[in-house]
Amino acid sequence: MVIPGPPPSAAGDNLDDIAAAGGLHTFQLALHRDYGDVAAFRMPGTRLVSVADPVLLERVARVDKRPEKLFEFLAPLFETGNLQVMPAEEHVPWRKLVLSALAGRKSHEAHYPSFARMTAEMADRWAVADGPVSLQKELSELSLRMVCQYALGMEMDEGELPRRVVGAFEEVLSEYLGKLYGTPYREGGAREGLAFLRDAVDQVLAGRRPPDRPDLITLLAEAGERPARVRDTVLSMMLAAHHTTGVAISWTLYLLAAHPEVTERIRAELSGVPDVPGFADLSGLRVLEMALKESMRRYPPGPYGARETTEDLTLGGYDLPAGTTVFVPIWAVHMNPRIWPDPERFDPGRFAPERMPERPRLAYIPFGFGPRACEGASLAMLEARLVLAVLLKRFTFRPVEGHPVVPVERFVLWAEHDIEMTVLPAPS
Ligand code: HEM
Repeated sequence: MVIPGPPPSAAGDNLDDIAAAGGLHTFQLALHRDYGDVAAFRMPGTRLVSVADPVLLERVARVDKRPEKLFEFLAPLFETGNLQVMPAEEHVPWRKLVLSALAGRKSHEAHYPSFARMTAEMADRWAVADGPVSLQKELSELSLRMVCQYALGMEMDEGELPRRVVGAFEEVLSEYLGKLYGTPYREGGAREGLAFLRDAVDQVLAGRRPPDRPDLITLLAEAGERPARVRDTVLSMMLAAHHTTGVAISWTLYLLAAHPEVTERIRAELSGVPDVPGFADLSGLRVLEMALKESMRRYPPGPYGARETTEDLTLGGYDLPAGTTVFVPIWAVHMNPRIWPDPERFDPGRFAPERMPERPRLAYIPFGFGPRACEGASLAMLEARLVLAVLLKRFTFRPVEGHPVVPVERFVLWAEHDIEMTVLPAPS
């Protein structure tokens, strides 16, 4: 059987269709609306099979290989090979090591006081802001500061180096994204930024003392990773953690501003916890967690993934030879009306524990799945719950009238003109 899909242009690909849709993020929604749960399209030199059915996705759930072409724009970031596509035999031990630093409760608890302090400082600034706040800009910067602290073990408010690390990474990313999406950047900024960042990691490695909390750089060094791989890993964390967590929080605040009844319920829950909740307080915030999950369904910060099949397989009646690029349309899976009735509606109740068994396992995949799933998932959820709790307890958010909020592709699912909010004190 031939997999349905849009006909390619004279150049042999669907780049025009993708551009017309506003990027791969939005193209996937139209593709599956028009052609069903399994559809094919073409990028230069590659045919992709996109699968929006969570049951069929199980067929590739154990594949530990990403297609190189789709991620090659990130290759210059790395010295030891593109970590996004490293082969399974290298990836498996690397993942284990990284998870030991990112996913443990002990290390989350150890870093929590610094996260809480950074969040409270940002909220103090917002309380006296002279005009609306740009959520994505502010919250992405906060996420970057948190991951720098977690990965490098440096206190972000101490000395000049942390501030320069954040600035250098912003410079690198703005050039990479600028080249992809035509947004402004400074030519040569990435080269300088990368040199600075690599040197900063080396400085931290050289000055390392036995830490009082397990940060990523220490675990990597103690496991005998070579310095270039340590530098690559730190950069890869900054890349993966920076915009994703920031936009997750921004989209949640955006949706909550339109749903005061949900915000009310979250506030009721927050009335029993301190202004800056302690680590243990977060686990009791059930409505807040459901709202965050629903917002990542509605606007998944990382809206697509991809795998390359390593053996021939049949999927939904279609034969896929080994080496096929399977596109994972995370946004289209989350908006699949067969799985998520009335998918546009913001309804945190979908994530009530008793409703979870209603859906297939891979119906909700904001952090991907299988051996390549996001290593930072539990850390990101911790950060997002903390930041939302502090902000919602303290403030009411009112969208700036007339300011358009348009989701676009900027590697993550970004609001094109940011999300501008007037920040008012929460009702007492
Ligand atoms: C709300 C925040 C976040 C979202 C929605 C998110 C989402 C994702 C997604 C969709 C992937 C691709 C998974 C796949 O291909 O199956 C991914 C990969 C990854 N993420 Fe995250 N992420 C977030 C935050 C973070 C944070 C905070 C870190 C680290 C501190 C991180 C580290 C990574 C890494 C290292 C990978 C590559 C996985 C691999 O190839 O082994 N992410 N993330």
